[in-house]
Amino acid sequence: MTAPIGIFDSGYGGLTILREIRRRLPQYDYLYLGDNARAPYGARSFDIVYDFTLQAVRRLFDSGCRLVILACNTASAKALRSIQQRNLPAIDPSRRVLGVIIPTVEALGSISRTKHVGVVATPGTILSHSYRIETAKLYPEMKVAEVAAPMWVPLIENGEANGDGADYFVKKYCDEVLAADPLIDTLLLGCTHYPILLPKIRRYMPERVKIVPQGRLVAESLADYLDRHPEMAELCSKEGHTEFLTTEATDKFDRLASIFLDSEVNSTRITLQ
Ligand code: DGL
Repeated sequence: MTAPIGIFDSGYGGLTILREIRRRLPQYDYLYLGDNARAPYGARSFDIVYDFTLQAVRRLFDSGCRLVILACNTASAKALRSIQQRNLPAIDPSRRVLGVIIPTVEALGSISRTKHVGVVATPGTILSHSYRIETAKLYPEMKVAEVAAPMWVPLIENGEANGDGADYFVKKYCDEVLAADPLIDTLLLGCTHYPILLPKIRRYMPERVKIVPQGRLVAESLADYLDRHPEMAELCSKEGHTEFLTTEATDKFDRLASIFLDSEVNSTRITLQ
């Protein structure tokens, strides 16, 4: 039996990843799960993010998914390794859960010339230092300035990304990155929500700084993974459909998700526990 590829995020942010994955791999089916009722995850403790993420992964497995992408940096930073090492062997060792941090870091080597990179992300991702740690493994010469932007996700989750009020907080964290390392030539958006703020971030970053959202990098890495694992690709259904699950009210999800994806969304409400 084939099944869709599961895509999980704390809320709407993973839709920026789904959008690029669907563009790159339109033939597959996807089951998106947003834990909107409990988002944001960004400031939550390690244990809570791990518990919530494991519940979501189990739910996607129950729906048949054999491959699940944690399209959330906070979940990738705080829960991925434990799920892969502790839970998957017991649940079903043939299933896979992949994150967004390593594919993003891998791409940095060919993007930055100065080897000075800024990363903005949620407090949880920044405190885990996952970007700095993974970058040091692959590119020891690269300097990574990590800055937490705790106000960006709440602005987006509340539909204020294009409002005038957002400018204050976009400028604030852009200034903090530039103060942390004035030599950066690349700003990595280490949170799947942040591409929604891209036009404003562009306004407050010098022109020489490339702003890098993760969607395409993750999509490319997934395409590569499926090429290298034809046995997994065969188990993923291919009718070009996407279904959406949310833990919050569906009307709000459908309205905001349609804006993120530029197409109509009809979600189903579920409870995670
Ligand atoms: N979109 C998630 C990420 O990439 C985090 C948003 C949240 O704080 O829930 O980190």
